[in-house]
Amino acid sequence: MPEHISINASTVDPVVAEALAAIAAAPDIAALRASRNATVGEQSAIAKLNAALKNLPHEEKAAAGALIGQARGELNAAFAAREAELSKADEVAKLAAESVDVTAAAVPAGIGARHPLSLLQDQISDIFVGMGWEIAEGPELESEWFNFDALNFDVDHPARAMQDTFFVDPVDSHLVLRTHTSPVQVRSLLERELPVYVLCPGRVFRTDELDATHTPVFHQVEGLAIDKGLTMADLRGTLEHFARAMFGEEAKIRLRPSFFPFTEPSAELDVWHPGAKGGARWVEWGGCGMVNPNVLRAAGIDAEQFQGFAFGMGIERTLMFRNGVLDMHDMVEADVRFSQQFGVVL
Ligand code: PHE
Repeated sequence: MPEHISINASTVDPVVAEALAAIAAAPDIAALRASRNATVGEQSAIAKLNAALKNLPHEEKAAAGALIGQARGELNAAFAAREAELSKADEVAKLAAESVDVTAAAVPAGIGARHPLSLLQDQISDIFVGMGWEIAEGPELESEWFNFDALNFDVDHPARAMQDTFFVDPVDSHLVLRTHTSPVQVRSLLERELPVYVLCPGRVFRTDELDATHTPVFHQVEGLAIDKGLTMADLRGTLEHFARAMFGEEAKIRLRPSFFPFTEPSAELDVWHPGAKGGARWVEWGGCGMVNPNVLRAAGIDAEQFQGFAFGMGIERTLMFRNGVLDMHDMVEADVRFSQQFGVVL
C-alpha cells in the first residue's frame, strides 16, 4: 500500500520556499543549470509531491493538483527569471574580461631592418641601372681560371700571391672561393652580346682574420664597360658621377698609377669625401683601369675593335668611411640595433 502523503499548503509551501531559495542562491549560470534536476526537474521535491498525487483519495486530487500545478508554475518561472539574470551577468563579465583598452600604449612590433650592406649594395646598383647598366652575377665558388688565369695573372705571377686565396680541396679541382668580383668580368663577356655595361656586386673571400678593419668574407662591387672607342675619360666620368651620387655634389675623384694584371693602365681610385667625420678628406676607395687586351682575348673578343674599362671597390670599406662605422665587427654580428641606425627600408 503506497504511503499516503497529504498535499496541502503546509506541505507544498516549504517545498516551494526551499526550491526558490536554492534557485536564488545559485552563484552563476553553470551552477543554476546543474541544480535544475534538484529544484524543478525529475529529482525535485515538487516532482515527488506531484508523483504522490495519484495515491490521493479521489476527492482530494483536484485541490492538491491545482496547488502543485501552481507551485510548479511558480518554480519554473523563478528558474527562468534567474537563468535570464545570470546569463546576462555572464555576458557582462565576458565582455568586461575581453574588453580592449584602446588608450593603452601599443607594444611595438619587433620588425627587423635590412642590413646596411644590402642597402648600400642596392643603392650602388640603382645608380648604375639609372645609367642603363645591367646587373651581373657569378658564382662564389669560382674556378681558378676565371679568378686568375683569364684575368691575366701568370701562373708564377707575384700578383696571384698578392691575394690570400682560399683554395678548395681537392687541389686538382682548381676551385677557389673567389678573391674578388673581377671573374664576373670574364663571365659577362662570354655570356653577353657586346657592348657590355655591367655592374657586379657580390661576396668575396680572403684568408684574413676578423678584426676591426678586416673580415674573411666581404663584398665588392665590380664595374665593366666594353664598347667601341671607350677611353680613360669615360672611366673618369663614370667614377665621378658614381662618387657624386654616393657622397654628394662636392665629391671628386683622383686616380693614382697602380698595377693590376687585368687592367692596363691601372690606377688606385681615391675619393674626396666632403662629409667625412673630422672634415673633408681624400679616401682610398678602390682599383680601376682600362681592361687589358689579354682579358678581352681570353673572352674571345677582338681587342682591336673593342676596349673598355673596369673598376672595383669594397662595400664594407665604403660603408665604413661613408657612415663612420669604426669596427668591422658591427657589420658581421647581425645585431638589429646596428642595422636600425641606417633606417628601416622595406
Ligand atoms: N679586383 C681588384 C681587387 O680586388 C679591384 C679592381 C677591379 C681593380 C677592377 C681594377 C679593375 O683589388
